[in-house]
Amino acid sequence: MYRTHNCGELRSKNIGQSITLSGWVQRIRNLGGMTFIDLRDRYGITQLVADEGIDQKLAKIIGSLGREYVITCNGIVLERTSMNSKILTGDIEVQIQQIKILNQSELPPFTIEDETDGGDELRMKYRYLDIRRNPVRNSLLLRHKVAQTIRKYLDSQDFIEIETPFLIKSTPEGARDFVVPSRMHAGEFYALPQSPQTFKQLLMIAGMDKYFQIVKCFRDEDLRADRQPEFTQIDCEMSFVEQDDVLKTFEGMITSLFSEVADVNFKQPFQRMTYNDAMALYGSDKPDVRFEMCIRNLTAIAKGKGFGIFDNADYIGGIVATGCANYSRKQLDELTKFVQRPQVGAKGLIWIKIDSNGDVKSSVDKFYSSDDLLAWGEHMNAQKDDLMLVMAGENEPTHEALGVLRLEMADRLNLRDRGTFAPLWVVDFPLLEWDEETERFYAKHHPFTSPVSTDIHLFDSDPVAIRANAYDLVINGVEIGGGSIRISDRELQHKMFKVLGFTEAEAEEQFGFLLNAFKYGAPPHGGVAFGFDRLCAVIGGTDSIRDYIAFPKNNAGRDVMINTPSMLSQVQLNELSIEIKSKK
Ligand code: AMO
Repeated sequence: MYRTHNCGELRSKNIGQSITLSGWVQRIRNLGGMTFIDLRDRYGITQLVADEGIDQKLAKIIGSLGREYVITCNGIVLERTSMNSKILTGDIEVQIQQIKILNQSELPPFTIEDETDGGDELRMKYRYLDIRRNPVRNSLLLRHKVAQTIRKYLDSQDFIEIETPFLIKSTPEGARDFVVPSRMHAGEFYALPQSPQTFKQLLMIAGMDKYFQIVKCFRDEDLRADRQPEFTQIDCEMSFVEQDDVLKTFEGMITSLFSEVADVNFKQPFQRMTYNDAMALYGSDKPDVRFEMCIRNLTAIAKGKGFGIFDNADYIGGIVATGCANYSRKQLDELTKFVQRPQVGAKGLIWIKIDSNGDVKSSVDKFYSSDDLLAWGEHMNAQKDDLMLVMAGENEPTHEALGVLRLEMADRLNLRDRGTFAPLWVVDFPLLEWDEETERFYAKHHPFTSPVSTDIHLFDSDPVAIRANAYDLVINGVEIGGGSIRISDRELQHKMFKVLGFTEAEAEEQFGFLLNAFKYGAPPHGGVAFGFDRLCAVIGGTDSIRDYIAFPKNNAGRDVMINTPSMLSQVQLNELSIEIKSKK
């Protein structure tokens, strides 16, 4: 028998028992003739001890042990002389009677401790060693708990889990597809699903009523800390629902999840904010509402005073950084450089300080009197000791840049506490967005999202003004999920494809299966998909979703452990009738 207990299990009540443990050698210490071994498995660490008097054969085995050796040990549980309150088994130790080496280990390329000396790339290359570390293992355990809790909740609400295919058809909307060549059909390709969107709609037409799936999705897009090329969604769909029904159902799911896994209780209903308010007040469609620092519009009071940059701007707005009037020139220059980075894209930054006497100082003293600037302060609700940061330019980019600056200031002021959770729904998204480059409309969410019924008449006159029956769940500034009430009418779906620039033939070719299904009694339906990896990361309090994925890709989309993407052999290429134009 390899073990009677695991390494996190033994307590004072086991003192005197003869037990067997198996695991990895975390650490070996020799102190005054005694040898201490920390034995580790998934459940914890137990201290093994051998004193001077042990027999020579045993001493030899112990002397040959190294870090990460896999051993099995038989011994007696003893009370520890110096207890360790940091570990669960800290009251006891195991006096070694027999040890067997099950497998040796080379010296690992980085230390397997909570704080490791291994860089990112090295840890990814040896991810199986990285996962032995507490923080990574705990992240995977959290992920498991989140999945179990979600499954339990959705099952209790009559949702059923149905799998949908991975080898599907490539469609031009959304991100780029990952494609899979077909051997049996030379020159033809499958695509991996970016989401099961059309299948879940078909399941509603099929009468399944409430569907969910914890499912892999694949998108060939530029990667960031919160984006992986393959990621997991908690994908859901319901029939005979309106927007409010969907929001209520999934508020319930999120509330129950946070209460169970994070001991956090949310008040329902969650806050609901229109897309327009989110953009105007937070400069983002995923506002972090853990703190205020809302954007204020200064256009009306700051324009027309002879300051060219402001006079020529469509929009002037600012935020108030509480208590930051003591910012030095250097700090203000830093902030200016920060907003001028290409990722933020602002031209510049204007600052106004109100000192403790209520006097103002600013970078635009030449153009504005103290009274002018105090009037801005009043408008923005700035107090003594506060710093106002103001930007001007085109409407949307300026709002977005102010939104980024708002987050930066909040980070500097420690306002983004990872233990606080602020969920909200952003609603009333625009249905369409215009793309200057390709000169066409794109669906802001996806082409199956229904317009608000009172806006349908705008299809011909003012498509940009059409609001969608779409909603996003945002927690702490992260887009956790998104969904919509779908179009369930063939004519309206046709209209939508038309505005997106599809000819009738193209729409039939790409989405004929769905349009066809609409002929056979489609119920009103809607749903949502949550980013499972993101949800785990928000609960776990980290920015990178990679920590919650057992074997993630790096920022270049590579798996450095198995070294992929990689070339195919000529034999495979021939079988697939594929010719590579140029090799690396
Ligand atoms: P959407 O494209 O908004 O909607 O995706 C839903 C959620 O999935 C997460 N997500 C990602 N997570 C990690 N890496 C990525 N590359 C990535 N892309 C998206 C986000 C996002 O909110 N079919 C629709 C849903 C619906 O309408 O029901 C869809 O896929 O958290």
